[in-house]
Amino acid sequence: MCGIVAYLGVKPALPIVVGGLKRLEYRGYDSTGVALIESDGKGGDELVIRKKKGKVSDLMDYIGEEKLTGNVAIGHTRWATHGPPNDINAHPHRAESNRIALVHNGIIENYTTIKETLHNRGHALLSDTDSEVLVHLIEEVMKSGGLTLFEAVRTALNQVVGAYAIVVIDKENPTTLIAARKSSPLVIGLGEDGSFYVASDATPIIPYTKNVVYLNDEEIASLELDGGLRIRTTSNVKITPQIQALELEIESIEKGGYEHFMLKEIFEQPKSIRDSLRGRIDIKKGEIRMSGVDDHWEKWNNASRIVILACGTSWHAGLVAEYLFEDYTRIPVEVEYASEFRYRNPIVRADDIVIAISQSGETADTLAAIKTAKDAGAHVFSVCNVVGSSISRESHSGAYTHAGPEIGVASTKAFTSQISVLTLIALHVGVKKGRLPKGRFLRLLNELNGIPELVESVLKQVDVIYDVAAEFTESNNALYLGRGYQFPVALEGALKLKEISYIHAEGYPAAEMKHGPIALIDESLPVIFIAPKDDVYEKVVSNIQEVKARGGRLVVVVTEGDKEASALADYVIKVPKCAPSLSPLLTSIPLQLLSYKIAVLRGCNVDQPRNLAKSVTVE
Ligand code: G6P
Repeated sequence: MCGIVAYLGVKPALPIVVGGLKRLEYRGYDSTGVALIESDGKGGDELVIRKKKGKVSDLMDYIGEEKLTGNVAIGHTRWATHGPPNDINAHPHRAESNRIALVHNGIIENYTTIKETLHNRGHALLSDTDSEVLVHLIEEVMKSGGLTLFEAVRTALNQVVGAYAIVVIDKENPTTLIAARKSSPLVIGLGEDGSFYVASDATPIIPYTKNVVYLNDEEIASLELDGGLRIRTTSNVKITPQIQALELEIESIEKGGYEHFMLKEIFEQPKSIRDSLRGRIDIKKGEIRMSGVDDHWEKWNNASRIVILACGTSWHAGLVAEYLFEDYTRIPVEVEYASEFRYRNPIVRADDIVIAISQSGETADTLAAIKTAKDAGAHVFSVCNVVGSSISRESHSGAYTHAGPEIGVASTKAFTSQISVLTLIALHVGVKKGRLPKGRFLRLLNELNGIPELVESVLKQVDVIYDVAAEFTESNNALYLGRGYQFPVALEGALKLKEISYIHAEGYPAAEMKHGPIALIDESLPVIFIAPKDDVYEKVVSNIQEVKARGGRLVVVVTEGDKEASALADYVIKVPKCAPSLSPLLTSIPLQLLSYKIAVLRGCNVDQPRNLAKSVTVE
């Protein structure tokens, strides 16, 4: 949450930082700001801050024609935690002397104590934020200890409890940036001309350089135009920077002709699923290759339980995985909200395999939960999308989903890629342990390999799905129902609808409907049944009958050739036939398109729904 971008070089910094902030708006978009070091026209430098409630475009309107040509700048797009979104609470923040400015992502937990001390020393803080205390603290430390900027930042950070990614500029050191992180991500890009780019993720950096250094927790970097990059830990240990090459392409972070990122990402799913499976399936040999599993086979083979930790959509992928693992491997599975697990004194054993699922790899609760599991001796395996992310680095092993950057706040392609990878793992472990008969394994493997083509055929029905969407734009509530593998799909369908269209929606196991939601059913309530042909199909048809008898407006997602459920429904969406355990990869797609179109027709901002952010780096 909150996006940070900074630039230090020889080019005008403003367009680079603003362009980067636009790419990071998925992290928060309630207020935006930049700070630049500009010439004061008298041979010296001055700190110029421009910040505004609203999105990056509002900031640009505010800056208008103003000439800001400095070559060093920091920028921030905010998702409010402490203090409402307004011009004052927007970042960057500065202290009284107008010398240092700072942007911050994270939460300073002991900010009230620090604030009190600063007040007592005569500092006047202007905002309600926790972040502002940090810039005053740095300046205070610098003044009282006669320290360099780097040392002052390091000393101040040692007084801070909480999470931070920060970048600091100082008009007295106009060729230096200081960046530091703890529990919030930060990437440093190294330009060929000696320039530096800093950002919360690599997307603002890709247009300029592929060489990056990921800062680790409790590391501080000093970036100097002529002096290069130096990194130390907050406890002052020298670190040798590890330069890595980015594999992202610029096209992957652009809309490519689509109206919204979400739509682009929905339509990318044949490719993203293919990329998730690529190199891991050998159809000729009838094998799966997963080094993250094979290299730790003893752990997987001896696991008495699998515990899945995740949040949001990733948690729904975890629920699908519960069905998959229990079906294919017969290992008991528990799926936990990471936020509950971490504060619950959970029982974790050394023979547990913990699977952390996270698109961003930065979700604070998931990160903290796996640390708890690791401390208790469990083997932690992560399924992340963002390469080099904190969760992937904190895990013992893992498998990337390789879905490519997901920018729309509502997760779509990441979800189906997570399920694809989890299916591979469950199949692999199941057959290797001898719990999944080879014949069934081979049939499923072949079907999984062909799923991208089936996804393509679901996407071809976009017009049918859009027609259904047009019928529900005025709804206030919706109910999504499914059994077995379709229960998590129902939850995910409901989440998609509420997060982008603001229609209240609930997902339920279809049979549970009788224990409450049935009371809601009337002629105005859309009830979406996910009812492909599987072992529980007949049971679901009975549930559809029950809704029909009470006048609910029925949408059904069914297998091609379906008759019974379709005959009862007002609207029918068809998906191709496939193995029930693979069907979430198909049935979830019409629900994504349905939510997308309803939200567009309601005039909602699909890519940036209100109050949400994509990378939830605060707990
Ligand atoms: C936020 C996002 C969701 C995402 C969840 C977990 O709520 O809006 O799309 O599913 O965080 O994020 P993760 O990156 O851990 O998958």
